[in-house]
Amino acid sequence: MDCFRIEGGRALHGTVRAAGSKNAALPLLAATLLPVGSSRLRGVPQLRDLLSMRDLLVDLGATASQAEEGVWEISCPTEGPTEAPYEVVRKMRASVAVLGPLLARRGRARVSLPGGCVIGVRPIDLHLKGLAALGAEIRVEHGTVVAEAPPGGLRGGQVYLASRWGSTVLGTANVMLAAVLARGTTVIDAAAQEPEILALADFLNSCGAQVYGAGGPRIVIDGVDELKGVDAWVPADRIEVGTLLLAGAATCGDVTVEGCAPEELTVLLDLFTQSGVPFEAGEGHLRVMPWTDRPRALDISCRPYPGLPTDLQAQWMAFCTQAEGLAMITDTVYPDRFMHVAELNRLGAHIRREGGTALVVGPTQLSGAPVLASDLRASAALVIAGLVAEGVTEVRRVYHLDRGYERLEDKLELLGGVVRRELDESGA
Ligand code: EPU
Repeated sequence: MDCFRIEGGRALHGTVRAAGSKNAALPLLAATLLPVGSSRLRGVPQLRDLLSMRDLLVDLGATASQAEEGVWEISCPTEGPTEAPYEVVRKMRASVAVLGPLLARRGRARVSLPGGCVIGVRPIDLHLKGLAALGAEIRVEHGTVVAEAPPGGLRGGQVYLASRWGSTVLGTANVMLAAVLARGTTVIDAAAQEPEILALADFLNSCGAQVYGAGGPRIVIDGVDELKGVDAWVPADRIEVGTLLLAGAATCGDVTVEGCAPEELTVLLDLFTQSGVPFEAGEGHLRVMPWTDRPRALDISCRPYPGLPTDLQAQWMAFCTQAEGLAMITDTVYPDRFMHVAELNRLGAHIRREGGTALVVGPTQLSGAPVLASDLRASAALVIAGLVAEGVTEVRRVYHLDRGYERLEDKLELLGGVVRRELDESGA
């Protein structure tokens, strides 16, 4: 197993390019189950989760090839297997997004229930509610969702798609992926408004679907008989961009990220303004600059888009260890997503967790130590803290990080960080 060995205490400086978005690419890959003919996706990052999704598509009868780095070509026949087994779903929860397209194109699907994970309970009841509204018959047998379209196929329906936590991103994607080939009109209310949903709608529409209103709370879909494969780009990863900017801000560095969409991170820029971190936002790029006065601590709450993404909560917390004052951080999307608190404290942070809230007392002088990554974004927070800390930090179990960041160590090295990937012989 690999670990990162970070020599901290250096401000990051320089320019890097944003990678393609994992969370946009996953539903786009699931969408390639729908069109007749082959689809080409460009800008696909080389990430474990995406390779697992590709393998699942191949298990479902698709052919997938890589024309060149980051360019994937996928084509999927109408007939073929309809099962996503536990061994696959267990490794990568987003495989549940094949449920909608399989139902729409092949009339049935068997997808293992994903179960909880380290960041929370993560049910899929809303996915099932949405598909049932399209006429699918759904039952759960032996830990597997068994879904069947009615005779004549799915039909349009109306569904309100939020829980008490708010809307669901992959649930909205799943219902869209089913509704595009259903007979008649589907209305999704309380739809997720994340940019990844807009990217999915754009992809589906370029294949010939009729999806209206994506990016807002109500999505209307007029079903069509057939979709055709297209050539499309995966958008930039707003979470990777936010992570790199927070690494820059935490180290009092000067970091520019190119090839990104600044309008997707207005909430982070607003927090930088309130906190006193200087930044520049331009066409397709963002830059944080060194601060002279220490950033001020703020109280924030992670919420669905356009709120602060829960996927930046841990990295924001690492930054807060360098801010002046008491910062209250609440995660309304995943109130249990705080596994990084104890590890940040091992590096010298003063953070106390109270239910779905963490209190960070800053600033603190962090000092390097071995730490264990528990999940993808927690790993990113530990890397940021390691870059700030005096001395050497070893972040173990970086396979979590590799699920969502493409060669992060190379980007950090380009920015002057000292981050080496090493073989972890500790057995952790
Ligand atoms: N929820 C339900 N019922 C459902 C679905 C969700 O109650 O049927 C609840 C969840 O438990 C959670 C909230 O609704 O409290 C939001 O969950 P959502 O369904 O939006 O999450 P997701 O679609 O499974 C995606 C990202 C996550 C990201 C969340 C929230 C992908 C592949 N994953 O998950 O990304 O945290 O949206 O923005 O897009 C990550 O990249 O690190 C990651 C975990």
